[in-house]
Amino acid sequence: MDWGMQNRMSQLIQADGHCFFLPIDHGYFQGPTSCLEKPGETIAPLLPYCDAIFVTRGVLRAAVDPIGSKPVILRVSGGTSVVGKDLANESITTSIEEIIRLNAAAVGISIFVGSDYERESLTNLSGLVNECENFGIPVMAVTAVGKELEKRDARYLGLSSRIAAELGARVVKTYWCKDFDKVVCGCPVPVVMAGGPKCETELEVMEFVYDGMQNGAIGINLGRNVWQNPYPVAMIRALRSIIHEKYTAKEAWDLFNSLKNK
Ligand code: 5RP
Repeated sequence: MDWGMQNRMSQLIQADGHCFFLPIDHGYFQGPTSCLEKPGETIAPLLPYCDAIFVTRGVLRAAVDPIGSKPVILRVSGGTSVVGKDLANESITTSIEEIIRLNAAAVGISIFVGSDYERESLTNLSGLVNECENFGIPVMAVTAVGKELEKRDARYLGLSSRIAAELGARVVKTYWCKDFDKVVCGCPVPVVMAGGPKCETELEVMEFVYDGMQNGAIGINLGRNVWQNPYPVAMIRALRSIIHEKYTAKEAWDLFNSLKNK
């Protein structure tokens, strides 16, 4: 691996082999998502506890201080919205010059396997890999399901994750699911878990994150279950304890409860 690629990967994946990415990219198709109306205010107390942020160029410029910033994974796919015809019909939104200008540690792009736009999203990924590899910039593929949340099973996510890796993604972000080891085993690059819509209880979040880590994920890219929680700092610190401090789900939940009213 070239020095630049290795250096960027090491900004994302920490010395213990694990990572905690904080996504705040939801507005690119959802608009002002609840609790992310003012992203700069939302993330200010959370930044010390994450390893990188996942963000579009617009929010990066408007709401993230360039001095002393966490590494940036730039969301570079988009062009659709929740009120439009099909979330899967994305394009690449950001040029390679802009990616370099913004000093991205990596870029992120969604793929929509099985959708009407499967081919477009997969060739978007391979084209982006072709450009970014020239400059030592890793591409993280997001195995998106659009509004079809029921697609989140090991067979579908395993298929999407493997295809993403085959096309050159250096990291794959996918959803946790039952039998998560099957997803990880079939994917030759590191797998990071996304959160999805907010869970009913904090313990539920701790449990799926712990299970995913036990089954081979290297970390998480968790947004709504952190910043939509009434106690986001307690939540991020508790989740971090699973990722980087080997806490069990129950130990992390106890930590959450001890921190939430401090
Ligand atoms: C949205 C994304 C998000 O980064 C991803 O879904 C993770 O966020 P959350 O934990 O809120 O699901 O790719 O397009």
